[in-house]
Amino acid sequence: MRVFIDSADVNEIREARKLGLADGVTTNPTLIAKAGVDLERTIRTIADIVEGPVNAEVTATTLQGILEEGRRFHAWAPNVYVKIPLNHEGLVACRALAAEGIRSTMTLVFSPAQAILAAKARACYICPFIGRLDDTGYDGVELIRTISKIYREDIDFSTQVLAASVRSPVHVVEAARAGADAVTISFSLIRQMIQHPLTERGIAQFLKDAEKTMA
Ligand code: E4P
Repeated sequence: MRVFIDSADVNEIREARKLGLADGVTTNPTLIAKAGVDLERTIRTIADIVEGPVNAEVTATTLQGILEEGRRFHAWAPNVYVKIPLNHEGLVACRALAAEGIRSTMTLVFSPAQAILAAKARACYICPFIGRLDDTGYDGVELIRTISKIYREDIDFSTQVLAASVRSPVHVVEAARAGADAVTISFSLIRQMIQHPLTERGIAQFLKDAEKTMA
């Protein structure tokens, strides 16, 4: 399973890359606002650091607007993917951009039916949101499992599942077990995944014992 970093913070992305955790990058308007950065400059910088897909999300809501934004993003670097929210205009735009050789990720996917539409629109990736679906009382991981099975079993579908809205290490493990092609995670989640109390305790004990040997 590939691991993408869900961040618009260039320092976090550099750090994730050192850990082998930047097979790609996802951003969204919230992450761009949180980082307080300029979208174009940041995406161009990230696309230089990371070889894989760097996702920039459109904010236009009309078909024409999405197409224009998508073409503009694509011109920034060859590995920029246009992230498009899944609705009627988004699906039409995704298919039209694919015909121009521009790669897209359809985002805000909450049902297998939407995932089928995204595949027919020739999306390269879809982002089903695990955490936000869990919040509504449904099972986000189950959504990943169902979509992955549909995509695997239909030879006409080449769209890949990029699990998003990932809130815990358990989500990461379960997304992998459910067959996700990739998962996108925040830098704070990476920190959580690294840590284990028994590892910390073990290191402390070994250091104490090593000091005895040196003394
Ligand atoms: C990534 O592509 C998504 O935009 C992101 O994972 C959403 O996460 P959130 O639900 O924690 O905002």
